[in-house]
Amino acid sequence: MKIKLLMKSILTMVLILFSQLAFTNEGGLQSLRGSLPLTETGLTPQTRPWKQNSGIVNRDYEAQPPVIPHEITGYKINLRSNKCLTCHRRETYKEMGATMISKTHFEDKKGNGHVSANRYFCTQCHIPQRDIPPLVKNTFTEFQE
Ligand code: HEC
Ligand code: HEC
Repeated sequence: MKIKLLMKSILTMVLILFSQLAFTNEGGLQSLRGSLPLTETGLTPQTRPWKQNSGIVNRDYEAQPPVIPHEITGYKINLRSNKCLTCHRRETYKEMGATMISKTHFEDKKGNGHVSANRYFCTQCHIPQRDIPPLVKNTFTEFQE
């Protein structure tokens, strides 16, 4: 019983010591945020330009919302208008050379052929891309059709 108690208090002390060390890290420990101490604000990451008209990007897994291969700066989506639909809706996609929104985007309870309210805010699921090499190397391979 006593030994257990002793072990417990030693463990607690070691843990406290480690947490103290984490807070007093004066740099030197290289991580993704550089070697800045945790008490300092990280450096503002450099932003790279959005990928522009890079062509359809392969999907990585089944039922993935395709990523947006063009810039969307200033494209408003609100109650009155949806910029994305000016090019992607059924009536205009051919003329604009864009992909028509998926048939699934019309499915709602009423089935009235309008874009479902669940799919109206496109950027909930679709995101544009920047040209950035992965921070951490990995062996992920994309979904093969
Ligand atoms: C000015 C017309 C235009 C507007 C506005 C526009 N797009 Fe596009 N979009 C295109 C074109 C053209 C392509 C095809 C790109 C290609 O083939 O290089 C495309 C491609 C895409 C794709 C890829 C489709 C696939 O099959 O992989 C997605 C997703 C997409 N757009 C989403 C959006 C979203 C979301 C918005 C609004 C924030 C938007 N687009 C606004 C013209 C437009
Ligand atoms: C709730 C998530 C969600 C929202 C919101 C959404 N999408 Fe999608 N979208 C998807 C998924 C998932 C797919 C791929 C599977 C499918 O076809 O349903 C897709 C597919 C697409 C495609 C490719 C269609 C094809 O036949 O290859 C386009 C283009 C697209 N969406 C555009 C849009 C636009 C424009 C909006 C806004 C009006 C929008 N999406 C809103 C999830 C979403």
